[in-house]
Amino acid sequence: MLVGCGFSCRWWQAKVSFAGPIPTESSLTDRTASPAATSLRSHRCGSLTRADVGQPVRLGGWIHRRRDLGGIVFLDLRDRDGLVQLSCDPQWTPPEIMVAAAAASAETVVLVEGLVAVRREPARDMAMATREIEVQVHQLRVVGPATTPAIPVARREGEDVAAEELRLEHRVLDLRRPELQANLVLRHRLLQRSRRTLTELGFLEIETPILTKPTPEGARDYLVPSRVHPGEFYALPQSPQIYKQLLMMAGFDRYFQLARCFRDEDLRADRQPEFTQIDLEASFVNQADVLPIVERVLVDLWAEAGHAIAAPFERLTHHAAMERFGIDKPDLRYGFEIVDLTGSVADDAAPFVRDAINNAGRLRAIIAPAAAGMSRKELDALSEVAKANGAGGLIWARRTDAGWEGQGVKAIGAAALTALAATTGSVLLGVVGPDATTSPALHAVRTLVIHRPDITPLRPHAFAWVVDFPLFEPVPGTDQWVFTHHPFTSPHPDDLAFLEREPGRCRALHYDAVYNGNELGSGSIRITDPVLQATVFRFLGIAPDEQRQRFGFLLDALASGAPPHGGFALGFDRIVMLLAGASSLRDVIAFPKTAAARALFEGAPTSVSAAELAALHLQSTGGRSA
Ligand code: AMO
Repeated sequence: MLVGCGFSCRWWQAKVSFAGPIPTESSLTDRTASPAATSLRSHRCGSLTRADVGQPVRLGGWIHRRRDLGGIVFLDLRDRDGLVQLSCDPQWTPPEIMVAAAAASAETVVLVEGLVAVRREPARDMAMATREIEVQVHQLRVVGPATTPAIPVARREGEDVAAEELRLEHRVLDLRRPELQANLVLRHRLLQRSRRTLTELGFLEIETPILTKPTPEGARDYLVPSRVHPGEFYALPQSPQIYKQLLMMAGFDRYFQLARCFRDEDLRADRQPEFTQIDLEASFVNQADVLPIVERVLVDLWAEAGHAIAAPFERLTHHAAMERFGIDKPDLRYGFEIVDLTGSVADDAAPFVRDAINNAGRLRAIIAPAAAGMSRKELDALSEVAKANGAGGLIWARRTDAGWEGQGVKAIGAAALTALAATTGSVLLGVVGPDATTSPALHAVRTLVIHRPDITPLRPHAFAWVVDFPLFEPVPGTDQWVFTHHPFTSPHPDDLAFLEREPGRCRALHYDAVYNGNELGSGSIRITDPVLQATVFRFLGIAPDEQRQRFGFLLDALASGAPPHGGFALGFDRIVMLLAGASSLRDVIAFPKTAAARALFEGAPTSVSAAELAALHLQSTGGRSA
């Protein structure tokens, strides 16, 4: 459709393509004036300001909204930079353009030419950068007609976004929403900032393979069959872990990568099967060298998002984190630490409490402040949460002017409570049992307490290092052990004697960065002694033959001159999510997977034909055939 009048006619008459030079007779801004200027447009919609008033402009964008006001048509035109109001009025808009404007439907792409003018009534939307101006339309051409959008891009005030599954099915429309555009712009800025910071710190960006030999990180591998080597498979990297260590042995000294990682695991809200890490490794370092490097990256990323944060971060050992907060990624914006009341439990305590303590259990509790305002109903709900996390129940008692009240008085015994310093109205929330029960239950209870509306954080940004993780974790119900982080993490030098004798006591040179209750990333100092590496493999149940087959290349490289090295990986998607204030990783990834690991827009995974499978020397035993 071509609608136009005699204004700047050469541009409008180019029916096939607009790729020609800007007409010299045009008084439009020179293309060099704005980096977004092209032969089809002079500005982006959202970049116009009051300073452009009186200026003729050409714009291209999507019709966000249309309002017909009896003879005058207002169109909000949207592009990457935002919205601007187009004003179509018979005073300056030719009749055929008035007709086209009145028919322009949502999400149609148009090219427009007009004059920037002061808006008669500024937009009510204070966030709209162009709210004081409008473009008086002289020309309008539909270049990208649109079918009726399956989900709304422009929402009315108070209207909710469409259900997530529907949004993911129509991701191109969904991505047009200003919120998601802003998230991906922020993501771009954070990627560039991390590149800049690490380059300034002397790190080299080196890409490692995507078709790899499996790197264990605790998840399942995505496998890729080899066509030319029947029966053999590549694995997509769970992380570039081994490759970055090999780069240190190859002498690159400081490596980083904005690395794509692939993990076939049961998905949780803060996990995706395919995600990005800011991955780094450095040579001739110990833990004290790596932590400030990561702190500098985080300080710069937070600054990029407009937040000034201070380093160095607080450090706490894994043991202290579990003791004080019941979790290895505590939310330190709040107090309400766990206290151990075992020692003050009196003889008149309830039998279930005494029995639990006699069975190597402990009575641990947090004290919720009066501000949390726990009603009886809420205490029951908290009790359910404690039970869902393994506790037998929740012991509670409320401090009143007259003393302690509630079922906890009987359970614990009045004497234990009297000794507690607590202000009137505060509520003791306790759990008794082994640490493996009390820690997760009290963490879950504390999380609910700190998120109550009347509880204000002590600070907005609480970063911390959690250090001295255990090297191994027991496999429940067996006498076996698995690595806590990955099998290349160095044991703590002071604990080498425990490695095989008392593995549960062996600490690792492993550290996590924690922010407001989220694990931002993990890292460690690596094993560089091939004999020690083989010992750890053996301890993890990997026999010497299998070690050679799976990791022979690493053991050989370690034996060929390995510098001491260590590194870190930050979960980049998680960082963007937190800095964007988004509630899901899917809101900061252009084309994410659902919780069931499906790509709904393009439809992946998908079945393939028997012929394609045969070419890969595979046969399918399940699912749908193509
Ligand atoms: P780790 O496995 O702890 O360490 O991963 C580092 C960080 O990556 C993020 N992350 C994820 N983000 C989204 N979806 C997922 N499925 C997912 N899995 C992990 C988390 C996590 O803290 N090679 C080691 C690092 C090292 O030792 O240098 C590693 O990958 O934020």
